[in-house]
Amino acid sequence: MYFIANWKMFGSLNSLKSLDKVIKFFKNFKKNTSSKIIYCPPSTLINPMFKKLKKTPIQVGAQNCHENQNYGAFTGSINTIMIKNAGAKYVIIGHSENRQNGETDKLINTKIKSALKSGLKVIFCIGETLKEKKKNKTNRLLNKQITRGLNKIKSKKNIIIAYEPIWSIGSGLIPKSKELFETIKFIKKKAKNLKVLYGGSVNPKNINELNLINNIDGYMIGGASQDAKKFIDIIKKTYI
Ligand code: PGA
Repeated sequence: MYFIANWKMFGSLNSLKSLDKVIKFFKNFKKNTSSKIIYCPPSTLINPMFKKLKKTPIQVGAQNCHENQNYGAFTGSINTIMIKNAGAKYVIIGHSENRQNGETDKLINTKIKSALKSGLKVIFCIGETLKEKKKNKTNRLLNKQITRGLNKIKSKKNIIIAYEPIWSIGSGLIPKSKELFETIKFIKKKAKNLKVLYGGSVNPKNINELNLINNIDGYMIGGASQDAKKFIDIIKKTYI
């Protein structure tokens, strides 16, 4: 199972102290599970976090990248080589918060290719809006996002999909279990053999309900991951 902490635009050097609890917890826990914990902090914290987590099995990821693999005149951007160099092993690509800012499937596809070329693993986000869901367009949209996002990528072994319905991100709402099971099943069929995580308002209260759905390979956790206790609770409850 994957547990991805997406810190979004939160966190300072001081917040790294909160990782002590998680490191301690995971030290004893790791022995009997094959779970992976990946922290995706803002770019400013990638390297400090990498240094802090160096001797632990916890890995670090970035939240986005520029599509150009080479260096260039792109003020404010970082490429996948820089991300790798800072110590990250993963990068989130296609998060709806970036898609809403104009990131297209084509751009996402270029970013994924750049990340793979640089030796990063990709957490590829897909998901529908409430309007699309209400119009029963979820599968059609996911199909399009997967087909275009993964276009001409031969080896997909370093890609994980995070299904994040936009209406469930930060809203406290999660899909109905049966619906989520069916959507994950659809994604897995479409993106042959890739791991599929669920993201959107995952918290210690709804994790038991989510864990009953048996085709989810892990979770991407935003808000609740900033609180070490909540994050640990989610992991613990997944294995009880
Ligand atoms: P949330 O965010 O857990 O705060 O809903 C999830 C995400 O956007 O990855």
